[in-house]
Order: sequence, then C-alpha cells, then structure tokens
Amino acid sequence: MKVEVKQLQTDEVEADLLALGLFEGEELPAELAGAPGSADARSNFKRLGRLYPESPKRCLVIGLGKREEMDAERARVAAALVAKEARGLEAASLAWLLPASDDDSATAEGLVTGTVLGAYRFDRFLSADPDDPTPPAIESLTLLGPDGVAAAAEAARICAEAQNRARDLQSLPSNVATPSYLGRRAREVASHHEGVTTEVLGREEIAAKKMGGLLAVSQGSTEEPQLIVLRYAGGGNGPTLGLVGKGVTFDTGGISIKPSAGMHEMKMDMSGAAAVLEAVTAIAELHLPIDLVAVIPSTENMPSGTAIKPGDIITQYNGKTVEVNNTDAEGRLILADALTYAVELGAEQLVDLATRTGAVLVALGSTHAAVISNDDDLAGKVEEAGTTTGELVWRLPLHPEYKALTKGTVADLTNASAKRKAGTIYAGSFLEEFVGEVPWAHVDIAGTAWDVGRPYTGNDASGYGVRLLVELARRLTA
Ligand code: BES
Ligand code: ZN
Ligand code: MN
Repeated sequence: MKVEVKQLQTDEVEADLLALGLFEGEELPAELAGAPGSADARSNFKRLGRLYPESPKRCLVIGLGKREEMDAERARVAAALVAKEARGLEAASLAWLLPASDDDSATAEGLVTGTVLGAYRFDRFLSADPDDPTPPAIESLTLLGPDGVAAAAEAARICAEAQNRARDLQSLPSNVATPSYLGRRAREVASHHEGVTTEVLGREEIAAKKMGGLLAVSQGSTEEPQLIVLRYAGGGNGPTLGLVGKGVTFDTGGISIKPSAGMHEMKMDMSGAAAVLEAVTAIAELHLPIDLVAVIPSTENMPSGTAIKPGDIITQYNGKTVEVNNTDAEGRLILADALTYAVELGAEQLVDLATRTGAVLVALGSTHAAVISNDDDLAGKVEEAGTTTGELVWRLPLHPEYKALTKGTVADLTNASAKRKAGTIYAGSFLEEFVGEVPWAHVDIAGTAWDVGRPYTGNDASGYGVRLLVELARRLTA
C-alpha cells in the first residue's frame, strides 16, 4: 500500500473515500457539517456513519469516544473498521483526516497500521467468481496531517506490511509452507536486504552438528528439516539481539498424536518463525542500528515408523539428555537446540517466540501472550514494547519448584511431566536450561498468533510478534 502524508483541505482530496474520526462532544469540520448524512454521524467509539459531501463524493465518519481516551490502539481499531467498510464501498484509495491528539505520531502509526492490517485478506487459493467479483484492494492511503508524522507513518507501513507477510506464512497450508519453503524465504530475504545474510542447514548438517532435539522431532517426517540462521548487521552500540522462532510447519503431535478435531489449525505452529523472519525484514528495511542473529528451527512433527517414541532419550545440542515422554511437547526440543546455537553465534540478549502450550490459551486467552524470563530488565522492555504496539504480554514466574518438575528420572530432563501442572511455566523452565547466563525472554504465543478477534487482526492469522520485535529492537538501540 502506498502511504503518504499531505496537507490538504478535505475538499481537495482526490481519494475515492475520505475518513475522519469524531470525538464525544465535538462537531464535524465546518465544511462537512451540513453534508447529507451528517445528522447520523456518532461519536461513540467504533460507530460508523456515511456522509455524502460534494467533494470527495463519499466520506466515512467513525466515532472515537472520549478525546482523553484516544491512543494508538484506538486508532488501529478505528482504521481497521474503516478499511473493511471501504472494501464494501469498493474504494481503492483512502484519505484519513488525522484526528488531533497529544501524540500525532502515535495516532498516525495507529491509522497506518490499522489500515494496512485491516485491509489484509488471504485469498490466493480462491478462484475468481465472475458473478461476485472481489472488491479492489486499497492501494493508497493519504494521511491529512502535519509533515512531522511522515516518518512514523512510513515506519508503520513497513512494519504492518511485514506483519501481513507473516500472516501469509501462517495461513499457508503445511503442504506449501514446508520447512524448505521457510528456508527459501530466508534466502530471499537475505538477497533482497542489504546487511542481511543467511545460512540454512539441512538434515545431514543438523545431524553432523548433533542437534539432537531438532533431529529427533524431524525423524518421523520425509520433509527435510531446516535450521535457518539469518543475521542482520546494523551496527550501533546495543547488544546483539538473538531472535528464535518455533518453526513447526505442522504439529500432529507425533506418536502422542493430537485429537483430529481442530488439528488442521496446527499449520500455524510456525507462527514464531513467521514473526521472527518478517521482523528481520522490517528491521533491515528500517535500517535500525542493531546486530541481529535469528535462529529458526523448522520441521514437521509426524507419526511414522521412523518417528521418535515416548520414552526415547535424546541428547540436545548442549549435551543435556532428555526423556521424550510426550512427543507432542516437541517445541521445547527444537527450541533448546536453537537457543544454544544462538548463544554460540553471539546473541547477548535472547527472545524466543513460539506457539508452545494450550495452557497459555486457557490462562490468558488471545489477549496477552505469556512471557517468561530470567532477566527483569529484558522482561520489562518486552512488556513496554508490547504495550506500545498493542501486542500485549503478561509475565509468568520462574521458581525452583517449577524447575523440579522438569527433572528426568533416567535422563537429565523430561520434556513433559505426568502431572499437568503449570504447563506454560514448565515449558519456560525447560528452556532456561539452554540459555546459560544470557538474558532471555520466552514469549508463548499459542493464544495470540491466531483468532485474536480484534478488527485489525481478524479471526485467523494475526501476525503477532512482528511489530513487538521491531519495537524491542528499537528500545535496545536507544
Ligand atoms: N503446538 C502445540 C501448542 C499449541 C496449542 C499451539 C494450541 C497452538 C494452539 C504444542 O506443541 C503442544 O502440543 N503442546 C502441548 C504440550 C503438552 C504435550 C505438554 C499442549 O499444550 O498440550
Ligand atoms: Zn507444537
Ligand atoms: Mn505439540
């Protein structure tokens, strides 16, 4: 989507559709006040009204509620509702009159993010229907506001488009988005972005490196696993940020097989990988002054004659042994190797994103992701970043008593305890064994990656984490 900022009067707008917000107790701009439809304009948050001024021909008014409650999240929601309505009106170009607030840049960010995300659809597998042609996509967005918001608008466009690419990866079925597909995407990213390099290891190299977790999970599948490394050299004075994303392109559960109802959704078990991959593209496009090392372990988790079996003992990349008592707790096995590798490659702060546990969905639904961390400062930065971008996180504790649950009987660790206690914390405690002393935050996105239900995320792939990671990177450069 083309995004620009211009100083125009509303009647100079050439877009198909003009959008504006209305705060409680305030009036429409004088030039629109008498237009047909204006009597129906409402200021209640999210309420939509249509006006038909002389020029431009059509105008949407959306209620913004109380002016003092205005923030970037409200702007995202309002813009997404407008973008969806614009689709029904077949508008290919949209102009948004920036509502005055204390923080114009935050509002501009919200409007651009909400428009780009709200206009998203995943329709590449739908055949065209000549009797019901698809409305055009919104091709351009003009913000009517001060020049000072141009940088924020452009950064928001870059991040939201990266988020939409992550949603594409999440939505692609597992017969298309295989581990090799993610590997090819990483190579494509490296070839398109200055400062980005990649290295992709296949099954033999993974075996040669003795990454026993990734090897074990992938051994039941004929799809080649991939250990994808992306580096971005942006320089700066901050720490090298390590990003790790779970890339299970389909999680059947393996021999500990999942129930069939709803299993198709497990194509999204690579949402962490999608967020990490596309966050790297956004950070590179923004030229943020930071060094990144991203590690994505990718595989299918399949039952078969060669699959890992409950009770099997494996040796992780760092030498620790694990009893695999539940083959459906596969994420921790592949992430463990990836975290160790990221530290080896120079990560000084580590964040991993992964669709890890059904338990997080029970605890926090789709509103907050869980964060588990060995470092208060990093956890705080992740929380602040999430509050800024609307990708909320809630911290859960680590404690030696949880750690005790992860101890194995005949190996160092067990990947799943018979007692179903504290499932999300268990997963975090397990991973802590693989990061050494490096400040690390684990973000469990099983609830927030899919079916978030906000107007700008919809009820399927949300792309959660892309903007969060970019915002965190910004905070680590500052
Ligand atoms: N990929 C799943 C977690 C998941 C659940 C993601 C729901 C998205 C939506 C993960 O690999 C898994 O199977 N976790 C198990 C762990 C258990 C076996 C200890 C779970 O949560 O049931
Ligand atoms: Zn999984
Ligand atoms: Mn699983």
